[in-house]
Amino acid sequence: MSFIVKKKISGKEYYYLQKSIREGDKVKSKVVAYLGKDLEEAKIKAEQIKQMENTNSKEDTSKKPLEVLDSEPTKITIEELANFCKRKGFVYPSGEIYGGLGGFWDYGHLGSELVSNLRKEWHKYHVQQRNDIVAIDGSIITNPKVWEASGHVASFVDIAVECRKCHHKSKVDKHELETAKCDKCGGDFENKGEFNPMFTTQVGPIKEDSVKAFLRPETAQLIFANFKLVQENARLQLPFGIAQIGKAFRNEISPREFIFRVRELEQMEIEYFIEPNQPCPYVEEIKGTHLLILDEDKQKNNEEPELMDLYDAHKKGIIKTDWHAYWIAKEFEWFTSLGANPNNFRARQHTSEEKSHYAIDTWDLEYNFPMGWRELQGFANRGDFDLKQHQEHSKKNMEIITPEGKKVLPHVVCEPSLGVERALIVFLLESYHENKEKNTTILRLNPKLSPVKAAVFPIIKKPEYEELAQLIIKDLRTEFNCNYDKSGSIGRRYARNDEIGTPYCITIDEVSPKNQDVTIRDRDTTKQIRIKTKELKDTLRKLINQEIKFEEAGDIL
Ligand code: GAP
Repeated sequence: MSFIVKKKISGKEYYYLQKSIREGDKVKSKVVAYLGKDLEEAKIKAEQIKQMENTNSKEDTSKKPLEVLDSEPTKITIEELANFCKRKGFVYPSGEIYGGLGGFWDYGHLGSELVSNLRKEWHKYHVQQRNDIVAIDGSIITNPKVWEASGHVASFVDIAVECRKCHHKSKVDKHELETAKCDKCGGDFENKGEFNPMFTTQVGPIKEDSVKAFLRPETAQLIFANFKLVQENARLQLPFGIAQIGKAFRNEISPREFIFRVRELEQMEIEYFIEPNQPCPYVEEIKGTHLLILDEDKQKNNEEPELMDLYDAHKKGIIKTDWHAYWIAKEFEWFTSLGANPNNFRARQHTSEEKSHYAIDTWDLEYNFPMGWRELQGFANRGDFDLKQHQEHSKKNMEIITPEGKKVLPHVVCEPSLGVERALIVFLLESYHENKEKNTTILRLNPKLSPVKAAVFPIIKKPEYEELAQLIIKDLRTEFNCNYDKSGSIGRRYARNDEIGTPYCITIDEVSPKNQDVTIRDRDTTKQIRIKTKELKDTLRKLINQEIKFEEAGDIL
């Protein structure tokens, strides 16, 4: 299938011919020709290319003009995104009927599905599809000694500041105290003292006997504390990783920007353990992965980031370890494989002053949020800091024996750590398309992430059609989250589903009961196919997993 795609680069519009192409068992979209800056000329050129191509594909030889897709999502502010999310049932301020509580949010009926799909995709890519990573699920409250050993009790401190002019409250690192200015009005800050953002609680019902404990500020420590058990139980050999998805809590002084900075967050983290200096056997895989790189030197010299092959960035010594380069590339690939625009990402090295208490070297994968470039995901080199600390504090040996019989205390040279909330913002921003003329919104989410995979509409209000629609949806619901919608015009029903990102709408029309077939409409192209009802579930699965092209899935209408 071919489309004309409009791209905006530095404010100017350019047109490209894009095609869905099969690569192995996946269907990918590829730009195949540049069509110029003028839409009418682009349409003529695209038609010429279509004529020239020796193809038997029904779509390409049809007389229909090629559809023009605006590939750029609509730029919206973080407040506009928050409003959309509340209106449609993705995210609400927590306990809103009582005025909410700063930094706490609830997921609505669509948000909870979307987050669940996000977790599933993360787990599939990082755990299920690999040989070397297993997942655990640790508790939120654990023995407080864990947090003494990890250094969080003593060193996980921020400095609270308040603007002398507008009284905006914020936090700064120690090294920023002298120079930081209020991000709201540019005023000077007053130092309000150090604070530890860990939430505390009491464990035990009787006050005198209870123990002060902490809500975990990161999921990572449960991985370190359980390291030996997991390694033995899962019979893991270095290099290997332990992953975890779960809630973490930070009493942020100034939660803000919708769910970008929250007090109850969810992390998706991997601690990847290696023998000291063990090379990354997978580093060749990242050759050709280009990303904007902003290292410490460039920041100190006020230079712009440079687009580099991550493999070369490591070979030139800009990214010190091969593991760091590898994991930054893998995480960037995860985002782009689910539809994010590669141009919205860059890798930035932490300056020496901003590194956490446990880190030797840290890089962030940053995203161009509506508020500017901000941290999306962190990649800290924690060395042997954590296992050594837990070994000393617990008096339990954390070393493991390699197949060669060597005793080693593993190192974590790279810890990919991502917040679910920030990933959610990215995928929502990347898929949000508004059509101002038609006053409609389309959420072009990757179908794997879409909260509702298919909507089923009986077009004719008669029992015969509705019964068939009910039978179809019952069968689909054994595998997918689906909507059943029989109210309003068909156009209205399509629009309602486009707005929440439903990739496929199925209609039961006047010939369906007789022919035992239905139509499927594709959200992004509005093209339709007709397909036998008995093939529907298998076809839908293949479409969602991008194993077949839409126009190959049935008879195109
Ligand atoms: N275990 C390492 C660690 O927790 P971090 O840089 O403090 O490192 C990792 O956090 C990621 O967690 C961040 O890149 C961000 O995606 C997310 N995160 C951290 N604090 C957050 C907050 N208050 N609100 C939303 N996400 C947060």
